[in-house]
Amino acid sequence: RPLDINIELPDEQAAQRIKIGIYFATWWALNVVFNIYNKKVLNAFPYPWLTSTLSLACGSLMMLISWATRIADAPKTDFEFWKTLFPVAVAHTIGHVAATVSMSKVAVSFTHIIKSGEPAFSVLVSRFLLGETFPLPVYLSLLPIIGGCALSAVTELNFNMTGFMGAMISNLAFVFRNIFSKKGMKGNSVSGMNYYACLSLLSLLILTPFAIAVEGPQMWAAGWQNALAQIGPNFVWWVAAQSIFYHLYNQVSYMSLDQISPLTFSIGNTMKRISVIVSSIIIFHTPVQPINALGAAIAILGTFLYSQAKQ
Ligand code: 3PG
Repeated sequence: RPLDINIELPDEQAAQRIKIGIYFATWWALNVVFNIYNKKVLNAFPYPWLTSTLSLACGSLMMLISWATRIADAPKTDFEFWKTLFPVAVAHTIGHVAATVSMSKVAVSFTHIIKSGEPAFSVLVSRFLLGETFPLPVYLSLLPIIGGCALSAVTELNFNMTGFMGAMISNLAFVFRNIFSKKGMKGNSVSGMNYYACLSLLSLLILTPFAIAVEGPQMWAAGWQNALAQIGPNFVWWVAAQSIFYHLYNQVSYMSLDQISPLTFSIGNTMKRISVIVSSIIIFHTPVQPINALGAAIAILGTFLYSQAKQ
């Protein structure tokens, strides 16, 4: 019987690295564009439950069209697949809405500084809910992550509790989403791209009734008229851009998650936040105090220490 060992030649390794590098760069660039349009939309139209729903609806529609026109092959799924996907979709929905609510209340940079604390949530969930233990340096690396986020939060000029809690809830929900996703993707034949498409569809079904209950068509109609009057017809393009880029960046991130470990994924995600924090501060002229920036830098440095300690 032939040995079941996958030996990668140096050329294959280099090609794989280049491929992941391209995925990462595309993921970060798409995410920066999403964050900018998302905030522009939320500034004019502060209804995060609807904008979150539209992002999922747009992605679902794009994928349904791609499957119908055979641009992409539709996945072969069964009841078991959707059952396993359900908890992932619940976590994705909560994490997505919570982050969008956060960004409707505070600066994009602040939401992402708090979201750079995600590794700390990952360790705490793994330790206390899954009973996994880690070497001491991993726990020590949480100190700068938590301390840096806390320093940034207390020195934030436009602090808002809903904005802060939204980012914290999003961190917790996304830790569960990532753990369940990697498990769900293992051993089934659905690609990263199609896995994220199914996740969007299911999340859309979960989110829609809640969005109607929390905000609802009356508020949306009045807000929409107001935004159109303020911004003009371009507002519709902003909404389209935030929705399309939301789907694209998530799709690319799932295509990378398919190829890498959750640890490499979370490091890539933190690096992504640096580009979002810097670009959004420049574009939205966000006021930042030196001590506030120091907090963000300490938190991000903590994430690097965490990744080293975990390896
Ligand atoms: C969302 O709307 O889902 C968040 O902006 C996503 O946050 P992420 O940067 O963790 O993907």
